[in-house]
Amino acid sequence: MSPGARTQRLDQILFAQGFGSRRECAGLLRAGLVRLDGQVCSDGASTHLSQGLALEVDGLPWVCHDLALLLLHKPAGYECSQKPSAWPSVMLLLPPPLRQRGVQSVGRLDVDTTGLLLLTDDGGLIHRLTSPKRQLAKVYELSLADALGGDEAARLCAGVLLDDDPRPAVAADCQATGSHSLRMSLTEGRYHQVKRMLGALGHRVTALHRSQFGALHLPADLLPGQWRWLVDAEAVWAAPAPG
Ligand code: URA
Repeated sequence: MSPGARTQRLDQILFAQGFGSRRECAGLLRAGLVRLDGQVCSDGASTHLSQGLALEVDGLPWVCHDLALLLLHKPAGYECSQKPSAWPSVMLLLPPPLRQRGVQSVGRLDVDTTGLLLLTDDGGLIHRLTSPKRQLAKVYELSLADALGGDEAARLCAGVLLDDDPRPAVAADCQATGSHSLRMSLTEGRYHQVKRMLGALGHRVTALHRSQFGALHLPADLLPGQWRWLVDAEAVWAAPAPG
């Protein structure tokens, strides 16, 4: 058994995985709606290694993960908040058990921003992933309404002043990728930071996409709206993000 692996009662596993209240989980077991290795299992007191346990719950195939850490390709038109104000929440893109177990996004992307969004139910991990001390680079691909003048990348790396903050906002790296596009890497995450940094140079961002978070790249085969489990949180720190 790997270190940290946990053996738990099946009713506790169902509850921890987000299949409802303890009473609801007991009801699922009683009703014969929980299958283990294809066989109905109604014994909530039976004990199992939770990580990797393959269940089927009320017809939903489910591989148990002790820690929920997910990578979502956020489409435009979704808010990161659990209680969105105007647009649907990204949480609606996830299966109900993940919503039930309190998964939250690691930082936020604007409603019109697309790309790599991490979500987890581990508050400590959210803190480590967003802490300014860790200097994790986030890489953004941005399209602009107007053509670049030529010196924007250098000015963004030198630092620009935002309207409400005396500290300059500095890009960790920035390169032009076309006449109207830039790739910019940031190690901090202020409110609307990319759009405001470009705004400080007189540019309007027309499309914003996050392609990288730390060492993680958005997988090319993960389509907008799709998500996948990320098993190893260390993968985010595995190597420094290229600029
Ligand atoms: N900066 C922005 O302006 N918006 C985002 O969604 C992310 C970074």
